[in-house]
Amino acid sequence: MTSRRLISLFLLFVLAMALHRQQQVMAAKPMPQLRSESKIIQDSIIEKINANPEAGWKASINPRLENYTVEQFKHILGVKPMPSNEVMVLPTKTYPKSLNLPKEFDARKAWPQCSTIGKILDQGHCGSCWAFGAVESLSDRFCIHFGINISLSVNDLLSCCGFLCGYGCDGGYTLRAWKYFVRHGVVTDKCDPYFDDIGCAHPGCEPLYPTPKCQRKCKVDDLIWRENKRFGVDAYRVNSNPEDIMAEIYTNGPVEVDFTVYEDFAHYQSGVYKHLTGYSMGGHAVKLIGWGTSEEGEDYWLIANSWNTEWGEDGYFKITRGRNECGIEANVVAGMQKNLFTQMI
Ligand SMILES: *[C@@H]1O[C@H](CO)[C@@H](O)[C@H](O)[C@H]1NC(C)=O
Ligand SMILES: *[C@@H]1O[C@H](CO)[C@@H](O)[C@H](O)[C@H]1NC(C)=O
Repeated sequence: MTSRRLISLFLLFVLAMALHRQQQVMAAKPMPQLRSESKIIQDSIIEKINANPEAGWKASINPRLENYTVEQFKHILGVKPMPSNEVMVLPTKTYPKSLNLPKEFDARKAWPQCSTIGKILDQGHCGSCWAFGAVESLSDRFCIHFGINISLSVNDLLSCCGFLCGYGCDGGYTLRAWKYFVRHGVVTDKCDPYFDDIGCAHPGCEPLYPTPKCQRKCKVDDLIWRENKRFGVDAYRVNSNPEDIMAEIYTNGPVEVDFTVYEDFAHYQSGVYKHLTGYSMGGHAVKLIGWGTSEEGEDYWLIANSWNTEWGEDGYFKITRGRNECGIEANVVAGMQKNLFTQMI
């Protein structure tokens, strides 16, 4: 009796120790506080990536991020995770498996008449990626479905969506941006251009720009805010299965995705990115425009970033497809748009 009790006590003790150790391991890597003032670009990371024959991508000093501190870099990664109860009730799109999808797809080539698809923008120092990914995809979809070039206004969404979308330049929710298009519509870029048109690659950008004020007035005289609004008809998630994501892009055009950015991503130059080293810096939203397979046989997604054209492959990057790399397949959002012509009647 007693020895049995002793044995079970001993086993409990071993179990407790094991759990304790596991927790220690899991909590072992907090970001040291001191790091936030140091530079995001690190020679040690570049050397490590470029010396790794299995990396699949090349690293370099990105001129765009050359002088960014870790803290400044974190600030431009402006995606807030959606409350899971809201995500659960949202319609999720899936597609029949019988769809014959091409091995390679690039929305720029599929819809060459739509010039916005191939336009790389610059979010500046503002954490507005959540707004860029949404507005860019919606602009592309207007052209794909109604045959008109239209650049919609990131500034309208960023400054006028308010708390519904999150915190403006301090980050927001991708899905709520699409809901804003349905409820409030969005004006054209000509009516309300982006506040930070210099892109902040110049001295004097500090302190960080605050979120621009919502003015509900076109900056050019011949346009009227309310008449300039373009509307979405729905907002939805796309199932995380890569085939469903591919089918959605193939059928309806670019989508907005987000993913976890690690330190190594800031050093991306070319190739198919996968996370290899560094701490997590935050969530970033971008526009997914296609897919393919590299010469080395690596399946990838083709993505437009909003860090101007000096970054990455002329502003684009590729990331491993099919393994939910950095969560890239987890939160795919999009929506459809209202026909401009029926709207006018
Ligand atoms: C970064 O700082 C260096 C030294 O102050 C300067 O020469 C360079 O132009 C800066 N780069 C950018 C992109 O601002
Ligand atoms: C969009 O603009 C581009 C370049 O300005 C032009 O070549 C193209 O034909 C336009 N597409 C449509 C659908 O009007």
